[in-house]
Amino acid sequence: MISNKTVYRRILLKLSGEAFKGEREYGIDPKFLVYIANELKEGHSLGVQIGIVIGGGNIFRGVAAAANGMDRVTADYTGMLATVMNALALQDALTKVGVESRVQTSIEMKEVAEPFILRKALRHFEKGRIVIFAAGTGNPFFTTDTTAALRAAEIRADILMKATKVDGVYDSDPILNPNAVKYQNVPHMDVIKNKLKVMDSTALSLSMDNKLPIVVFSLMVEGNIKRVLEGENIGTCIGGNGDE
Ligand code: GTP
Repeated sequence: MISNKTVYRRILLKLSGEAFKGEREYGIDPKFLVYIANELKEGHSLGVQIGIVIGGGNIFRGVAAAANGMDRVTADYTGMLATVMNALALQDALTKVGVESRVQTSIEMKEVAEPFILRKALRHFEKGRIVIFAAGTGNPFFTTDTTAALRAAEIRADILMKATKVDGVYDSDPILNPNAVKYQNVPHMDVIKNKLKVMDSTALSLSMDNKLPIVVFSLMVEGNIKRVLEGENIGTCIGGNGDE
């Protein structure tokens, strides 16, 4: 059922790879897949067009591997492959709940999924399919947050929704500082200048230059994806006031 209650036409959702491991040490938790597929089904039923970028940190963290001595470029490509695994698992889960989707990869692997072609992705949106963009930007040194900002700009998303384990952006680390204050709205530039660590500076500056607002919210609260799509003020909005 399409209820048309969404305030957005098209969005880009960034899902943390870490979330995919659920209660496991690493890998993909089938329970989380069922949870996220149902959350997406609910959001999708509002009639919004949804593009998704997933991290790969539940399987492989390129930056950590590089810190442990692995060649950075090799580590980053390995991380990109991890995002493809998450994308295929998510597509499978979406299919099971009756939501049509397509996976597109930035690194060509035609036997596995279709390559990233913007025009084709736009056609998929028109046909009501969720499009999952996998394999990062296809380049080392770029994070999946940067991929999300890039794809959001390319598909002309109204907003970048960053679904993660924290419920917004704080003025300091809420785990270390119990008095940390959560922002309702904060300009991109303040997040960059104050190194608020919610996203890397490349992702933030790309979003700022393209006047792309970002909503940071918790993925772990049931119904949150739908709440954001309906325009409820949850989490933190970065650059929502056009005040950069
Ligand atoms: P429309 O025909 O435009 O409605 O889109 P469609 O995605 O249904 O048609 P298409 O024939 O492009 O794709 C049919 C199926 O094949 C879909 O599941 C696609 O994701 C998949 N597919 C398309 N291109 C490729 C590819 O290069 N590699 C792989 N592995 N699958 C592909």
